Amino acid sequence: MTSAGLQGHTLALMIGVFDSGLGGLTVLRELVSRFRHADFVYLADHAHVPYGNRPSGEVVDLTRNAVEELYRRGAKLVLLGCNTATAVALRRLQQQWLPDSPWAGTHNVLGIVAPTVEAATQTPWAVTSPQYPQKYNTDTVAVFGTTRTVASGVFPEEIRKRCPKVTVVQQICSELAGAIEAEKPEAELDRLVAEGVAGVLTKTAGLPPHRAILGCTHFPLVEHLFRRHLPPFTRILSQPEVVADSFEDYLHRHRHYLEGSEGGRLTLLTTGKPEDVSRLARVFWPEVAAFGRA
Ligand code: DGL
Repeated sequence: MTSAGLQGHTLALMIGVFDSGLGGLTVLRELVSRFRHADFVYLADHAHVPYGNRPSGEVVDLTRNAVEELYRRGAKLVLLGCNTATAVALRRLQQQWLPDSPWAGTHNVLGIVAPTVEAATQTPWAVTSPQYPQKYNTDTVAVFGTTRTVASGVFPEEIRKRCPKVTVVQQICSELAGAIEAEKPEAELDRLVAEGVAGVLTKTAGLPPHRAILGCTHFPLVEHLFRRHLPPFTRILSQPEVVADSFEDYLHRHRHYLEGSEGGRLTLLTTGKPEDVSRLARVFWPEVAAFGRA
């Protein structure tokens, strides 16, 4: 894995991954370990993290700026490794911005809600109506997310389209992503997770959910705390894995995004302070390279 810095690499084809902060690294780490032949550039917008409590218009503008920055850096395909950005901005960027932009026809942007919904419903994204046996699925699914992701309603909407009998319970964890970025002590993170789980149980009359979607890419960093507070039979859907599975399928169908990649190159950028961001990143990904300034 190479260190940060783009000199000499600006023309190479890379896959871009974006998050407001370090949460997207949970997805990137899985992608890097699976796609040895790909080169990646990751952008974290620490100047504006967290996104989850910002107005939608701001999230759209910040996400578009980040995607453009990654395109300028050589990425033709960008994955939003952020549920908030995906839930709020992806459709607007794909339908309203990209087709009229200078990147139209050559570049693309994808999100992480679709693969998560596919995994939660066991139904392909292209199938938008109930199919046997999913129409008989009566499970309860809990979705933990930021204020903005929950307000978008995208998870319940997309799950119910495919599995109308599933009960979807959403829970805002408004402080958790910020607390993870701010390196709050484990006890405080544990309290925030416990509050989130308790919030779900108040909405299900105390019945634990069958499945839990950690609908914020920061939350896998505290998955052990969710595991502690949820009963053993609640299956936690791990976004990094389901996103990487789906990305694998996508790249099989769109191999040109890998042409020109040398493999193994990773560039990490932040709009914040690279030293601080690099230190925190190593807490949960010890061998990760250093961040550079975006
Ligand atoms: N990690 C992001 C998500 O998946 C955003 C967290 C935030 O910036 O609030 O939602």
